[in-house]
Amino acid sequence: MAITGFVSGRSSTQKAYPGKTTPFVILTCLVAATGGLIFGYDLGISGGVTSMEPFLSKFFPSVHRKMMMAADRSSNQYCKFDSQLLTTFTSSLYLATLLTSLLASTVTRALGRKNSMLIGGVIFLAGSVMNGAAENVAMLIVGRILLGVGVGFACQVNSFLSATIHSSDDDHLNVSTIRLQAAPLYLSEMAPPHLRGMLNMGFQLMITFGIFSANLVNYGTSKITGDWSWRISLSLAAVPAMIITVGSVFLPDSPNSLVARGQTEKARTTLQRIRGIQDVDEEFNDMVAASDESKRVRHGWSNMGKRKHRPQLVMAVLLPSFQQLTGINVIMFYAPVLFKTIGFGSNGSLMSAVIVGLVNMFATLVSISTVDKIGRRSLYLEGGPQMFVCQIIVGTLIAVNFGSTGEASMSKLYAWIVVAFICIYVAGFAWSWGPLTILLPSEIFPLEIRTAAQSLAISVNMFFTFSIAQAFLPLLCHLKFGLFYFFGGWVVIMTTFIYFFLPETKNIPIEKMVLVWRDHWFWGRFIDDDGHAHGGQEPVDAVENNRKVVSAI
Ligand code: BGC
Repeated sequence: MAITGFVSGRSSTQKAYPGKTTPFVILTCLVAATGGLIFGYDLGISGGVTSMEPFLSKFFPSVHRKMMMAADRSSNQYCKFDSQLLTTFTSSLYLATLLTSLLASTVTRALGRKNSMLIGGVIFLAGSVMNGAAENVAMLIVGRILLGVGVGFACQVNSFLSATIHSSDDDHLNVSTIRLQAAPLYLSEMAPPHLRGMLNMGFQLMITFGIFSANLVNYGTSKITGDWSWRISLSLAAVPAMIITVGSVFLPDSPNSLVARGQTEKARTTLQRIRGIQDVDEEFNDMVAASDESKRVRHGWSNMGKRKHRPQLVMAVLLPSFQQLTGINVIMFYAPVLFKTIGFGSNGSLMSAVIVGLVNMFATLVSISTVDKIGRRSLYLEGGPQMFVCQIIVGTLIAVNFGSTGEASMSKLYAWIVVAFICIYVAGFAWSWGPLTILLPSEIFPLEIRTAAQSLAISVNMFFTFSIAQAFLPLLCHLKFGLFYFFGGWVVIMTTFIYFFLPETKNIPIEKMVLVWRDHWFWGRFIDDDGHAHGGQEPVDAVENNRKVVSAI
């Protein structure tokens, strides 16, 4: 079976490199997909174990006592899980990922992507063992930090976090079909414009699959009495870690990485092995040209400050911040805790989390199949109001039932109505701000700032993910039902922002993206003082260079 590489050149031409689907290709697909899975599993697993009684009584006895007291409905339901230590268990992972993703790029440059993946896999494995075997809170938190470090390294394989590295190191996906699973940056460059959105969102789909798997595992293990429940949930993170670790032992170092480190002959023979054919000249030459070219665009960070890049800089910061300010991770991290707060038992709250996870996954598929037809803006502008309406309804339902004292109980039917609106809210997120916020940063940045801007977008995302994970339980205790109005307010702001400031990028070849900014009523003023955009096109050599880099990375 031939593997096809696509180039989104000036005329959207497609370029096909010859090659076969070798075992390397399949293994790399598996390893790349595992990157999203790991991330999703860790997102989803902590909330479930946090709501398990054996876990709480062992590590957080004061929270457990509050939860037991709240069972009589005469004490404040909003505050029963309020504990900074408990939120640190969830949030520490994201801080560790943020910091490691910066460091991992240097390690990858020096040691190559294969070794970087191996290091990540082993650290991740150590984290899951430490969590599964935890005897005290310190072991739990150190384990979560190790998982975060592992994610920071392991995600280098699919570039979700690899934007912190230089483009010459963007060798993550020289094995063509892997692009179907991951690598937003690479995907955007290689996909034909009319399919770019669809292909790119595979990574988000794997995240949602990871979250759903975690919800399902928690539901299953909660039936086990005693410590084995949470121990199994936390230890199962070792499965994807094993796939990455073992995969990285068997995968060859990527040809791009070898070229970047000057080992050109080894790079050529590796490419021949990966492709399963001898004649790889065309692809190899493009790869070398790309490596040379990428050395010329090393100054992404300083270039990003230029006035002409102001629109992209604003998007790199605001889109990922807004994504987290939708409040989605209140649900993804803490759904079981939230459902317990509104009165479900352990079984009901974990079951509701499974339903929410399923909705999240299927709604992402809706986005994947429509994004290249109806466009990015329509999805954002539909998803935003849908989320807002649900947030107001959920907040009001909780307010009517619990008031501001939180001293009440909720009937089963009432609680299921709340869950139904949470599902509609999650669906709205999953076909708008979820996948689009992975897609857009990878398609709107010009080559000279692409890796730096992508890196910025991911770091901002991680920072807000960490902050919301840390702040949710105290916020719930203090803002009460108002927490849903708080996030609803942000959704109004971000939807208005999209309406006025985000141009439609559907079907626009990457190289012509500058035109959508130049023609925009607001952003146009930042671009027209620069020859780069004046003539309505990037200079021909820039387009041609871009094409070369794109064709080989
Ligand atoms: C976000 C995560 C979120 C997930 C939900 C991702 O795009 O970055 O923070 O939990 O979507 O599916």
